[in-house]
Amino acid sequence: MNKVKLGIVGVYRGKSMINYCAQDCRVKLAAICDIWKEGLENVRAELKNDEIKFYDNFDEFLANADIDAVVLANYATEHALLAIKCINAGKHVYSEVLPVQNMAEAVKLTEAVENSKAIYAYAENYCYMAAPREMKRAFRAGELGKFEYGEGEYFHNCEAGWADLTYGDENHWRNRMYANFYCTHSVGPLLYITGLRPVKVTGFELPYNERMARMGAKSGLAGIEMITLENGAVIKSVHGVGISKNSVWFSVYGSKGTMESGREAVQGSEGVNKVYTNLDRYDGECVERFIAYNPVDAFTVRANANGHGGSDFYSIYNFISKISGEKDADVIDVYEALDMFFPGLLGYRSVLNGGVPIEIPDFKNPKAREKYRNDTACTDPAVAGEQLIPSYSKGVPPVPKAVYDALRKKCNIR
Ligand SMILES: NC(=O)c1ccc[n+]([C@@H]2O[C@H](COP(=O)([O-])OP(=O)(O)OC[C@H]3O[C@@H](n4cnc5c(N)ncnc54)[C@H](O)[C@@H]3O)[C@@H](O)[C@H]2O)c1
Repeated sequence: MNKVKLGIVGVYRGKSMINYCAQDCRVKLAAICDIWKEGLENVRAELKNDEIKFYDNFDEFLANADIDAVVLANYATEHALLAIKCINAGKHVYSEVLPVQNMAEAVKLTEAVENSKAIYAYAENYCYMAAPREMKRAFRAGELGKFEYGEGEYFHNCEAGWADLTYGDENHWRNRMYANFYCTHSVGPLLYITGLRPVKVTGFELPYNERMARMGAKSGLAGIEMITLENGAVIKSVHGVGISKNSVWFSVYGSKGTMESGREAVQGSEGVNKVYTNLDRYDGECVERFIAYNPVDAFTVRANANGHGGSDFYSIYNFISKISGEKDADVIDVYEALDMFFPGLLGYRSVLNGGVPIEIPDFKNPKAREKYRNDTACTDPAVAGEQLIPSYSKGVPPVPKAVYDALRKKCNIR
C-alpha cells in the first residue's frame, strides 16, 4: 500500500501531528510549512530528515510539495481560506478547530468539498476522548434509550500560557475571538455521541473579568449555548479561557438513564477518561445501578502517548484510515463540522441580539445556504468589512499597550 504523503501547516499545534507521523507506518511526512521562519528552522533542526521539504509560503508549499493530504494547524480564523485552496488542488484536508470564521466561508467551504473527491476531516479531537467514544457506542447500541438532555463543558484557564499562545500580538485571533467562538470542544462530542443535528440556539456570554484583562483578551470570560436538537432534546455547551479552573466534562441523559465522564475540575485530567453510568435495562425500570469504568480498546496504550487524553491519536488515525480506503473510518465531515461550530457562531449572534433564539441552518440543503452567501460577520475587520462585530457584546474592552508589551517579553516561544 502506498503511504499517505502528508504536509503539515503550522508548527506549534502542528508539532503534535508531526510527532504522530513517526508512529504510523501508513504515513510519510513529506512537507512542513509555516510563515514563522524561526519555528520552521527549529523543526528542521530537530527532525534532521532531508526527505522532508520545508516552506515558508503556503502557496509555494501547495504548488510544489509532493503531498496527498494537508494538516491545517494555522490560525483558527484562517482554516477555510487554506482548506478551500487545498481541496481545489485535490488534496485531502485535516482541519484543526474551527472550520470557518463566518457563514460566507461556510458556504464556500461546503461547496468546495461537494465539488471535489478530496476528503475533508474536521480535527475535533475531544470527540475521540475515551468517554465520548464510549458514550457514542453505548447510545448507538440503544443502552441509553431516546436522547433527552446533555451537557458539554470545556473550560481552560489559559492565563499561564497566554504569552506563548499569543506572543503579545494584540490582533492574535485568540485575543479577538468572542466568548462563543471556540465552541466545538464542548458542542462537538454531544453531536458526535447522538448523531443529532442542532436546529436552534440561544447564546449567553459571561462577563469580562480581571483575568481576561491581564491576558489582553477582549471577550467575555466564557460562552454558553443552549441548543435544541432535531428531536427536541436540548444540550448545554459551556466553554471559555478566562475561568478559574480547567474542566472537561460530558454528560448525557436518555430515557433509560444517564452516562457521564469524570469531571476534570474535581478529578483532574485523568478522571475525564472514566465513565459513570446509571442505566435501566428497559424504559421505565427506574432502579439505581451505578457502574464506573475506564473504557479501553485495542489502541488505548498507543493513543495515550498522544495529547488530550489520547484523543489526538484517534482523530488523525481515522483520517489516514479514510484516505487509505477504509470507507467507514470514523471522521467528522464538513456538515458535521459546521453543525458543531454554528451553535457558537450563531449563539453569539443571539447574545448580540439580546438573547433571542437563532435558527441553525442545515448546510446539507443547498437552499438553506443561500441567505448566508454574503454573510461575512466576524471580528476580523479585513474579512468582515461592513459587517464587523465586536468581540464583547458590551463593547470591545480597551487594553493598554503595556499589557501586550509585557506578554511579548514573557513569551518563551518566539
Ligand atoms: N484541537 C486542539 O486540542 C487544539 C489545541 C491547540 C490548538 N488548536 C488549534 O490549532 C491551530 C493553531 O494553534 P496554535 O496554538 O498553534 O497557535 P497559532 O494559531 O498562533 O499558530 C498557528 C501557526 O500557523 C502559522 N501560520 C499562520 N498562517 C499561516 C500560513 N498562511 N501559512 C503557513 N503558516 C501559517 C503561524 O506562524 C503559527 O506558527 C488553531 O486553529 C487552534 O485552534 C487545537
